[in-house]
Amino acid sequence: MHIHKIRGWEMLSSRITPEHVFFNRRQFMAGAGAIAAGLMLPPAIGGAEAAVNPAFADAGRAVTPEEINTTFNNFYEFGSSKRIASAAAALPTKPWTIAVSGLVEKPFEIEFQDLLKQVSLEDRVVRHRCVEAWAMVVPWTGFALKDLVALAKPLSGAKFVRFETFNLPEIAAGQKEGLFGGGYPWPYTEGLTLAEATNDLAFIATGAYGKELPKSMGAPLRLHTPWKYGFKSIKSIVKVEFTDKRPVSFWEQLGPAEYGFWANVNPQVDHPRWSQSQERMLGTDEMFPTQLFNGYGEWVAGLYAGMENEKLYM
Ligand code: MTE
Repeated sequence: MHIHKIRGWEMLSSRITPEHVFFNRRQFMAGAGAIAAGLMLPPAIGGAEAAVNPAFADAGRAVTPEEINTTFNNFYEFGSSKRIASAAAALPTKPWTIAVSGLVEKPFEIEFQDLLKQVSLEDRVVRHRCVEAWAMVVPWTGFALKDLVALAKPLSGAKFVRFETFNLPEIAAGQKEGLFGGGYPWPYTEGLTLAEATNDLAFIATGAYGKELPKSMGAPLRLHTPWKYGFKSIKSIVKVEFTDKRPVSFWEQLGPAEYGFWANVNPQVDHPRWSQSQERMLGTDEMFPTQLFNGYGEWVAGLYAGMENEKLYM
């Protein structure tokens, strides 16, 4: 599909709203002080114990202040601006049911709170790299996606996992027909190969900063794939489907020449309209060189051996 309009992250990087103009210096320093005091590792979420996974205890950069991560968001269901936190607050998340379907032993639905009892919660501090060339560090609580895959018991024919977000246009104004020209293929969907989904790095976040996941960040549960551009990390998941066909995700339907299935971070493969060689940490003017697989190649590079003909980096 041809993209006619400039939307959010389709802007030139130089035109992307500098989010730090939204935050006064005092708030930012309070956040930075909390990091320095070592207060950023979250305790358990959902009543169960969550220990820090030692492999992901330190992202090598300062944790992004909570105030910034919770109020500068991409969540197109609530609009194309970054300031959707108050609109997202209207999303009803209790109760929340997740449907597991497709090529599994037995399809089922599970309440979010029941799901939490069947997985191993842990804390991870990881980097997140948006395709728009900004980055952040988030202290998540959640569980490895492979725990959910194990519960689902996929059949041998299952090769991909397809995720879907809610479709509630009466609550999420961005989903109302006609907005943005009516061309958005709601609901938001994303997909991974089964091998990616069972990699240790693929994570379902259920909390951040030691609290329940804020609605603006995708409550009650969202995917986080730190080696891929942020649009893969689908928020507020209601459906997990196992399939033998490669899913065509929301952004791939909208702009296949710019947003692909794989979307692995690579500084040498530019977005058609801006460079990916560097990234700016949210809330700062600090620039860092972009790293292949966002620096997580040790975990995931092997997933792509022999796949040189695929468009792995868009
Ligand atoms: N999930 C849904 N359902 N809707 C979205 O618009 N935006 C994606 C991803 N997941 C998005 C989504 C993009 S582009 C990014 S960069 C991250 O969420 C942003 O996550 P954050 O708002 O927690 O920083």
